[in-house]
Amino acid sequence: MDGNGRWAEARQIRREEGHEAGAKTVSEVVTRARQCGVEVLTLYAFSTENWSRPLSEVTRLMELLVRFLKTERKTLIDNGIALRVLGHPGRLPRAAQRALDAVCGVTEAGREMTLNLALNYGSKAELLQAMQTVVDRAEPFTEATIDAALFTADQPPVDLLIRTGGDQRLSNFLLWQAAYAELVFVDTLWPDFGAQALDECLAEFAQRERRFGRTGAQLRGENTQ
Ligand code: FPP
Repeated sequence: MDGNGRWAEARQIRREEGHEAGAKTVSEVVTRARQCGVEVLTLYAFSTENWSRPLSEVTRLMELLVRFLKTERKTLIDNGIALRVLGHPGRLPRAAQRALDAVCGVTEAGREMTLNLALNYGSKAELLQAMQTVVDRAEPFTEATIDAALFTADQPPVDLLIRTGGDQRLSNFLLWQAAYAELVFVDTLWPDFGAQALDECLAEFAQRERRFGRTGAQLRGENTQ
């Protein structure tokens, strides 16, 4: 969800107001993704690296998260959306942890879509932890045992990864899970992203030929002997 800060700077308003606008985009995109039949939507809300931002910005982001959870709670329940956290919420302020626990608990039975919020999340740390878990469980290292030890256990791999804000990098996000993801980079700043922009990204995804190592002819079922 990149671009909140630049969106605010362009309007000569505080970065926090950019995050406020970004939270509105979150609501719109969650609703649209659910309408489009997306099974799992993951939003990178706060990385392990984001702690290095000014304390005032971090505090406002956490307050915004709590407000978001309070206002969206009913929508999530009514739409059968299960909230899950990827990352270690233990470092978040108590109020944020309590709000997350409450909404994750009350939406747990949601079957229409899973909304993952990546919070205090970093993919390399997740992978290291997963490997330690595999060792502790005395399991062999296989794709299945590592999958099962990730925050995303029981979830499908990432099909489409969208990055807003013009940068073209993964920034320590779902490195294992996105091994075969289609990547879409858009210049749009996150507060300007919305239902229509999501539709465009899904249309772009639908155009891609996903070969998973095979040839195009094999995919088309042509005789390639
Ligand atoms: C990146 O933009 C955005 C974040 C670090 C925070 C994202 C948070 C929200 C959209 C709102 C709170 C979250 C929820 C789920 C309600 P940036 O600040 O790095 O922008 P820049 O790239 O323009 O500097």
